[in-house]
Order: sequence, then structure tokens, then C-alpha cells
Amino acid sequence: MQEDALKWNKKHLEHPMPHTPSDLLQSFLPTLLQLPSKYALDIACGNGRNSKFLAQHGFVCDSVDISEVALQMSANHPKIHTICADLDTYRPTPNHYDVVLNFYFLNRDLFPFIQTALKSKGIFLLETFIKEEDGFNSSQIIDEKILNHGELEHTFKDFEILHKHTSYITRREGEQAKIISFVAQKS
Ligand SMILES: C[S@@+](CC[C@H](N)C(=O)[O-])C[C@H]1O[C@@H](n2cnc3c(N)ncnc32)[C@H](O)[C@@H]1O
Repeated sequence: MQEDALKWNKKHLEHPMPHTPSDLLQSFLPTLLQLPSKYALDIACGNGRNSKFLAQHGFVCDSVDISEVALQMSANHPKIHTICADLDTYRPTPNHYDVVLNFYFLNRDLFPFIQTALKSKGIFLLETFIKEEDGFNSSQIIDEKILNHGELEHTFKDFEILHKHTSYITRREGEQAKIISFVAQKS
């Protein structure tokens, strides 16, 4: 934990990440606002760009990250509760959230806990790196941090998939990397 926290604190200080909320999240706001209550969990929230967007639209947001530096950037909204924790071991409260965000972070062991953390009809939004269909990883990111083709559909097979789209982004280092944007609703 301590080593990862230091590594991420350094990254957040040396290479500040964008503060604009995700396009995917913005486009799903009308759907999220129809949910009966407004409790959200932002997994590996970073500077809180997405937590702040939800908080500005009335959501109470639990925002979890291992980096205190990142959390200091998220903490300035009364509806955001920051939680400094290692998501290798942190487990969210079951049946508590209407919305769970998982952006640019991958810990497969968390997926079952995300599923139980969502209430019935709760919505899961994810965007992160994915391999090519033939399993090729064109990026510099280590294999275990990249989704396999079809993995989300299999893992969230009991959910209704509301949106699924792949595209490419240019990373800071200039490389092109494939990403998936995925939204699914618990039954
Ligand atoms: C690429 S950033 C994404 C931040 C945010 N989700 C976004 O899209 O802007 C990855 C985040 O994961 C956090 N992180 C990395 N390993 C973690 C762990 N084991 N537990 C909790 N947070 C972790 C980092 O501190 C960093 O803020």
C-alpha cells in the first residue's frame, strides 16, 4: 500500500490529470438523474473530476483512492466523502450505491464487490483500456491492467448492457491506446 501510495502521489504531482468530467458520464447524466436516489461510488477517483460532476448534480459521492495527493484535489465539495484506501483490499458497502464509476483503473477482483455494492437498477459506468480482438496489446500498459475482449460482457452477464463502444485515445506519451466505454444496469 505504502509503496503504491507514494508512486501515485508522485504521479499526481508531476503529471496532473485532466479535470474535465468524462464524456461518457456527462452523456449518461439524464439517465442517472432518473434513479430513485443519488448515492455514488467513484472507484480510484483521482483528482475527483467525475465525483465533482456527480456532486454538482446532487449525488452524494464516496470517492476512493490510494493517493492522498489526489484526494486533496477531490475534497472541496460537501457531497464528496473522500476515502483513502487501497482498492486491493477495500470493499464497498453492499447494496448501497445507485451509481458506481470505474474510470481508468482495473482491479478485476473488485468486480463482484461492485456488483453487490449496487442497488437493484443501479448503474455501472466504466472506461478503461482494452486489448485488440486478437488479444494484441498495442500499448505500453502491462497486460494485467488491460481488459480482454468480451471480458466485461461475461463478468456483467446478469446486467443489462446500456452502452458499449470502443475507440482510441492518444496517451501522454503519444501512443494510441484502445479503450472501452461500458455502461450496464443491475436487474
Ligand atoms: C489513471 S488514474 C484515474 C483517475 C480517475 N478515475 C479518472 O478517470 O480521472 C488511476 C487512479 O487510481 C489510483 N490507484 C492506483 N492504484 C490504486 C489502489 N491500489 N487503490 C486505490 N487507488 C489506486 C491512483 O492514485 C489514480 O488516482
